[in-house]
Amino acid sequence: MSQSTGVDLFMKQFKYFKSNKPQPSLNSVISVDITTSEVKLLECNTNYKCEDNLTQCLGLINKNKWKTYSFVQHPGLMLIRNPFTGSGQRYWIKRCLERYPKKPNKINIDIEIDNLDDWWRECHKSMECDKKLLKKLRWTTLGYHHNWNTKAYSEENKTPFPEDLSELSSVVAQYLGFAKFRAEAAIVNYYHKNSTLSAHTDHSEVNLDAPLFSFSFGQSAIFLIGGREKSIEPSAILLKSGDIVVMSKEARLCYHAVPKILPEYHQPWNSDLSELDFNKMPSFMYISNPKETIEAMNENIENDKWSEFENYIKESRININVRQVLNEKQISLADEFFS
Ligand code: OGA
Ligand code: MN
Repeated sequence: MSQSTGVDLFMKQFKYFKSNKPQPSLNSVISVDITTSEVKLLECNTNYKCEDNLTQCLGLINKNKWKTYSFVQHPGLMLIRNPFTGSGQRYWIKRCLERYPKKPNKINIDIEIDNLDDWWRECHKSMECDKKLLKKLRWTTLGYHHNWNTKAYSEENKTPFPEDLSELSSVVAQYLGFAKFRAEAAIVNYYHKNSTLSAHTDHSEVNLDAPLFSFSFGQSAIFLIGGREKSIEPSAILLKSGDIVVMSKEARLCYHAVPKILPEYHQPWNSDLSELDFNKMPSFMYISNPKETIEAMNENIENDKWSEFENYIKESRININVRQVLNEKQISLADEFFS
């Protein structure tokens, strides 16, 4: 990460990795699976007693097996390397495609097409999938809806945040020691082969101290992250299906981007597809309907039920970007005392 005043080194790297002709060299891309001096394996909060059945219900492997990495050049940036089971990945992929794009959540297509209540079903209503409509979905927003024009959140533009995603975010947050994190807004991004996300910082939230959690599923991506100015040269990090990126502390307000989607050959959503037995699990304290969640997770194991989702995810990438909007004691945006 070097700095030379005035020059947009971020843009230079973005263009380099975005290019199709010529294809960029991936030699400088950091993969946490390969030992380098830039990446460190972190010891995490083993005191956090998350019940095994809760992690299972959220599609996660036992938290003693999670591997969390930090980046020497980017304090506050962390990556948990795919802590999901195969059926867990299938569950979240399906939620992002079938459930989250429905009302009252918002999707980019709302601007163009009125009353598209069930985008996924609309795409699959005839034998032949409507690929044009399928590729049209670029984002879904949840909770406090991101306003793409003003970038400001408002109480009028807010709907209930999905309970399962809130619980998943809390488990990850607590594991990393952010015990008070509350998931209040999310953007689900859908990327296809040549999609990109240009350089930006996420600064619309009142609370900029709370970390941001970013879950990736499906095809891989090159993630660029630099500093508070675009003149700082970014690092390129490889993100794979199941990876969770956490932007906390100094990294929370750094420029980042996705210049390229790369094919994922390993398809982790097709391995580790073990069935869960709800009756063998002791009672739950958190999720209000664990039986339903477990059934939804088990259902995906049957390949005929899963195949439509498989067809989507073998060509696309989904990213769920979860944020806390309010300060700890604030209960609404109108609550100015805490803003
Ligand atoms: C975002 C974002 C990164 C990604 O939605 O703000 O930075 O990995 N997404 O898709
Ligand atoms: Mn972002």
